[in-house]
Amino acid sequence: MCGIIGCAGRTDDTLDVLLSGLEGLEYRGYDSAGVALANGSLDVCKREGEIERLQRAVDDSLDGADESDAGGSDGGGHRGPVGIGHTRWSTHGPPTDANAHPHTDCTGDVAVVHNGIVENYEELKTELQARGHEFESDTDSEVVPHLVEERLADGASFEDAFRAAVGRLEGSYALAAVTADTEAMLAARSDSPLVVGVGDDAAYLASDVPAFLEYTDRVVYLEDGEFARLESGSWTVTDAEGRPLDKSVSRVEWDAEETAKSGYDHYMLKEIHEQPRALRKALRGRVDELAGSVEVASLAGLSPSSVQFVACGTSYHAALYGAQLLREEGIPAQAFLASEYATAPAPVDDDALVVGVTQSGETADTLSALREAHRRGVETLAMTNVVGSTATRECDRTLLIRAGPEIGVAATKTFSSQAVACNLLASTLTDREDAREVVGALRDLPGQVQELLDDSRAGQVADRFLDGAGYFFVGRGHHHPVALEGALKLKEITYKHAEGFPAGELKHGPLALVTDETPVFALVTGDREQATKTVGNVKEVEARGAPVVAVTDGVSDAGRYADEVLEIPETHPRVAPVLANVQLQLVAYHVADKLGRSIDKPRNLAKSVTVE
Ligand code: F6R
Repeated sequence: MCGIIGCAGRTDDTLDVLLSGLEGLEYRGYDSAGVALANGSLDVCKREGEIERLQRAVDDSLDGADESDAGGSDGGGHRGPVGIGHTRWSTHGPPTDANAHPHTDCTGDVAVVHNGIVENYEELKTELQARGHEFESDTDSEVVPHLVEERLADGASFEDAFRAAVGRLEGSYALAAVTADTEAMLAARSDSPLVVGVGDDAAYLASDVPAFLEYTDRVVYLEDGEFARLESGSWTVTDAEGRPLDKSVSRVEWDAEETAKSGYDHYMLKEIHEQPRALRKALRGRVDELAGSVEVASLAGLSPSSVQFVACGTSYHAALYGAQLLREEGIPAQAFLASEYATAPAPVDDDALVVGVTQSGETADTLSALREAHRRGVETLAMTNVVGSTATRECDRTLLIRAGPEIGVAATKTFSSQAVACNLLASTLTDREDAREVVGALRDLPGQVQELLDDSRAGQVADRFLDGAGYFFVGRGHHHPVALEGALKLKEITYKHAEGFPAGELKHGPLALVTDETPVFALVTGDREQATKTVGNVKEVEARGAPVVAVTDGVSDAGRYADEVLEIPETHPRVAPVLANVQLQLVAYHVADKLGRSIDKPRNLAKSVTVE
């Protein structure tokens, strides 16, 4: 989704800060990018395509500016004290130079970047056009600079003009605006994330912390309806009427190293390999191995009679797994796709809990489902990776998964950390007879993931089955969510068709698609009834000529019927799916790598999906 970066107060490297900030936002997904620098005049440069194209256009215009000793109308003038930048993920109008942000007014003196959707833009545009404003793009966002322009023409200050323009908008927005002749940047948010970075001499603004983490780890999260003014070395936050607000500065625990590739070819591979560390962090200080108990401060006193999980994509798969764990403990629990939650039955009991599982804490569908839960009067818990995200601020409680920043669009380490967080939740809410074994298995998990990463044959398996016409993933019980997740991971980064389903469903339809060109990944651990039944399903597909890859701990004889085996260490049945999933992450990664796909930024996808 779109990303915003801004900075005020870095007099001689504003452009570098903006361009590297845009790179830090790339992972959110985008199809065009642009920057605007205010320095007595306003210089705007924007391009469809990769940030590299923008960088080249900026360099070219700087060369031109050096030769003629003047800023060009498209770029140039790189010494602006205030600048804004944007990565656009198209919603209104195709990815073109004209539709890229920043957008300007008729005078070319006001520039605005916008994330979100201005729902009443057609009405505003018609009104503005009737008053003579000329538009250059198909976007909803372009109405904003023209609205600001009108108020400035009436003699309003920049701040009043901006506030009045924002007051006309319906919909969702994170906005940042600059004018040619002010050294301040103004910002506002409603339903779209925006965070201020507090530096020693400079102030920063971004949709997400990694965009400025290199310069500061001190942040101020803006809430809906708040406005910010950023100037060289100072920042203020006000409400819609302009009254100053007392905002606290927090320190983010992530460091810049965590957001770098650190020698890996892709963020996804780096993040897969970070899982042992992430899992240790998820458990630190929360489990007592001797007593076999779990203690999470933010869950203290929680004792819901039923639990509903809401989530999307990978997080939904973790939610399915979490709901299973709770049901096994006798707590009625269900997982809902957040986008469908409006049609879900409201919990009947007063002391129900709704858990929003969301890595980013900003997914619009999940936030909307959590708001619906609030309207229904139900207590809410955000299970998230991002401190200060909208989910953490809107929910009654927060359970942090502590995975560290995840830059690759495909969620990997955060699924594992979510699965651990689901175990912490289940163990907190119930008294299991084998609590000590579960805690022991969780404690051993980081080491076992490391072992698996060191020895995985996923690369060879990927080589062998690179040309599959389609891929199936099957598993029962705890492995069902991982079968879904294995298929999602493969399809999103390889662009190959993949489906996951409960192993028992194979013969109720999908078996018709199974041929010698459709590898089937079967998740089988232990030797209980479920494993035996899945081995039966493996035989069915094997008999129809399908290549089988068993992801197994070797306890059952699944491997005997498989063409390839991906081994996982033996562990508690609850924890085995996390290990199995790591093998599937590696398979997806290697297939995508061998096919030369854009692994960290798959086509059409965005890391943080902030529209419904
Ligand atoms: C898939 C993936 C997405 C996200 C989904 C929810 O690899 O990353 O399916 O899981 O968009 O995002 P969060 O967890 O941020 O709410």
